[in-house]
Amino acid sequence: MKELIIKNIDETIQNSPCFFTNIKSFNFDYTPDEIFPRKELQDLINAISFLIKYRSSHHILLLGGPGTGKTTCLNWLIKNNQIEKKYGIEIKYINCISSDTTYQVICDLTGAKRGMPSNQIFDLFFKNQKKDCIIILDEINRLDILSQKSGNLLYFFSRPGEVTNHTFKNNISLILISNNLFWDRDILSKDNSVYSSLQFQRIIFSQYSTDDVFKILKLKAQSSLKMGCYDEDTLSYIAKLVNDDGRNDTRVAIMTLKLTIQYLENNQLNNPTNKIVYQAYIQAILEVEKETLGKLNLTVLTILYACALGSEEKIKIDTSSAVFNQVYLPLCKRDGRRPVSFMGFHNHLNYLSSVNLITTYVDWKNKTKNKYISLNTSKKAIEVSYQKNILSNQND
Ligand SMILES: Nc1ncnc2c1ncn2[C@@H]1O[C@H](COP(=O)(O)OP(=O)(O)O)[C@@H](O)[C@H]1O
Ligand SMILES: [Mg+2]
Repeated sequence: MKELIIKNIDETIQNSPCFFTNIKSFNFDYTPDEIFPRKELQDLINAISFLIKYRSSHHILLLGGPGTGKTTCLNWLIKNNQIEKKYGIEIKYINCISSDTTYQVICDLTGAKRGMPSNQIFDLFFKNQKKDCIIILDEINRLDILSQKSGNLLYFFSRPGEVTNHTFKNNISLILISNNLFWDRDILSKDNSVYSSLQFQRIIFSQYSTDDVFKILKLKAQSSLKMGCYDEDTLSYIAKLVNDDGRNDTRVAIMTLKLTIQYLENNQLNNPTNKIVYQAYIQAILEVEKETLGKLNLTVLTILYACALGSEEKIKIDTSSAVFNQVYLPLCKRDGRRPVSFMGFHNHLNYLSSVNLITTYVDWKNKTKNKYISLNTSKKAIEVSYQKNILSNQND
């Protein structure tokens, strides 16, 4: 048998080739200098030009599945057009994953310390806001936007005159970004008046085609990899793999490319075989899944965990009402969590399906419109995430 030889770090670095010229560009939150011009980008440019041209409030709702380029296109547009510097419009960006309550968002917007009453913080915001401003709330579907406890965020931005005593002459435009395509429908069902008074322009980023994914991969490879360590066949094979799984998620594609190249470096190879790429692809799915699961709050994660438990039984519990009654409610009771209503449960199922963690389908013959649920993620990964999340919640 061949003897195992372990090299030290120095030797490993010296012996392995360097194929990456810009490794940071493989991070999901990296904004590249050059992007693939998807057609909806022009809609976004038109909408932003409109609010700059007329100096008026214009609200935009950007919807699309994960990895359709919403964050990247918007950030690129702002950076590339120097909107702040050139037009004197302040941009405030908040990701609602880390700020998932209305209260936290207004604290972040103003720099106010926690503890101050929310109406005072809103007042502070309008008092200090001396310029026109675009507020971007990314991953808005994670925010308790209509919470009455800390004040309704949309309400305040739609009626500055009622919130503050200061005369407020500037324009505030909101850009809300959601991975959940049904997000505004959910909001409308809860509070129609506030939402419609803001008159959002909806822009939908559809899924990329295989060819689009190929072009995005090519841009990434050209800007961040050494020539010769990849070829177009590899890129189109990756694009085909992510198309075959029905999601066309660019995050999986880009992660597959990164892991493939890393494998080549580690094994001092020059060309990837399809087998190497395929293994990298399987690993990339797990990485992206972990990232998506990590973003779920405990309420949604509990529902996903209930779906996972339901699909585990010998007799499958896979309709939404059965999962709700037989798995979800007992699970909440067991872990001392307050359950959401059946309606809320359905809204969260819509969200989970929009981020591809589950698939739901309706049995039209069945008049109750009960939804069938199937899981797209490994039960193990969900369980680990749930346990971790519930533990950190208990420690808080
Ligand atoms: N049009 C594009 N041009 C270049 N890269 C893109 C484009 N769309 C998406 N990407 C890449 O795909 C990944 C996911 O895009 P992202 O903007 O985070 O999607 P979303 O915000 O819709 O979930 C990012 O790493 C990004 O660099
Ligand atoms: Mg995003």
